[in-house]
Amino acid sequence: MLSLVAAGTVGFLTAFNLPSTTSTTMAPEFPPLKNDLLLRAARGEKTERAPVWVMRQAGRYLPEFREVRKLHEFFEVCRTPDLATEITLQPIRRFSGLLDASIIFSDILVIPQAMGMEVLMNPGPHFPEPLDTPADISKLNTVVDVDKELGYVFKAITQTRMALAGEVPLIGFCGAPWTLFLYMVEGGGSKTFQKVKTWIFKYPEESKALLMRIADVCVDFLVGQVKAGAQLLQVFDSWAGELSPYDFDIFARPTLVHISTNVRKRLAAENLPSTPITLFAKGANYAIASLAESAGYDTLGLDWQVDPAEARRLVKGKVALQGNMDPNVLYGGRDAIESAVKRMCAGFAVDGGSQAWIANLGHGITPGVDPEDLRWFFECVHKYSARA
Ligand code: CP3
Repeated sequence: MLSLVAAGTVGFLTAFNLPSTTSTTMAPEFPPLKNDLLLRAARGEKTERAPVWVMRQAGRYLPEFREVRKLHEFFEVCRTPDLATEITLQPIRRFSGLLDASIIFSDILVIPQAMGMEVLMNPGPHFPEPLDTPADISKLNTVVDVDKELGYVFKAITQTRMALAGEVPLIGFCGAPWTLFLYMVEGGGSKTFQKVKTWIFKYPEESKALLMRIADVCVDFLVGQVKAGAQLLQVFDSWAGELSPYDFDIFARPTLVHISTNVRKRLAAENLPSTPITLFAKGANYAIASLAESAGYDTLGLDWQVDPAEARRLVKGKVALQGNMDPNVLYGGRDAIESAVKRMCAGFAVDGGSQAWIANLGHGITPGVDPEDLRWFFECVHKYSARA
């Protein structure tokens, strides 16, 4: 175990004698949670201040992350529980006392891999054999056993939850079907979305069927993550904003409802903890009101293109909110960060204090950010979101 982890970073982890738990056995006793701000805010409660974390908090802006990545390829890190645990803990350790959540180090593209596709990261995602036409669907695995294909994520979650020692809750996640389908068809990122738009407009029935197949894998994967120890779940629909409101209702919303409904059913049926679920449908600000009304999520993640007070009005108190500072404000220096955080806190405030709000950026933190500027962001959230 030691030799896998970058020098100088191992002490924290090796102190724990980890049980040999697999996802098919009962989860072990976890250390009691000392900071439940995130879970309380997700349930809509008032909090003494806003909990805060940032998307991609374990990532390339951290020198200690880059050290590990020098030695290990991206998906090797995801598949090696010791490495995934180490990287998940890096921001928690560095920003000790300032961060209120950890998110398991992995990627949304592990689902296409589990479905039988090859995915490389160089440096962005690349699928050597994307799905060109519906005939290619036959190349996918007909049955996906998540314990077998993604058991390494479950193992990493159990191990990380132990290593966190109850410091903060652990978030599990998956990509939403629309966003995963987009990568599977485009073969990587895209500027024009020509291939995925060809699929939905030329082969709408095949597209819908495949989207639902992906949704079923998402359900199994999220339930498995709770079983392994995840305390909150987030569904990333990063490309929701590429759809028109009409097409969102056809190609994205039914899959999102399928996931929230069936994850909750399964958690109840399997006597697993009832777990808050967040939906981050980036760019789908046209759908905020209707998602809050009936998509079945506890929290909606927001990007920076919607005003916090306007989002509050749209959701009518039915869900909690998460977000939403433009990540690029982190390049603007301390004064810019402080005034943006102050405005964000005022915009989300309920009765002059923090309620049903998880402070975050409006998208992932980018590689060029100085970690000390992120520290300042956290300090400002602590200061300006506190109840008087
Ligand atoms: O938030 C966290 O700290 C947890 C880990 C996490 C990663 N990816 C690690 C990662 C999470 C939650 C994701 C989700 C993810 N992955 C999304 C949804 C969120 C979003 O950003 O919209 C998407 C679309 C992906 C697919 C993906 N993975 C892309 C497009 C890229 C390249 C983009 C880039 O930043 O260069 C990745 C790679 C990736 N995933 C990195 C990290 C830290 C950087 C790659 C590296 O280490 O070389």
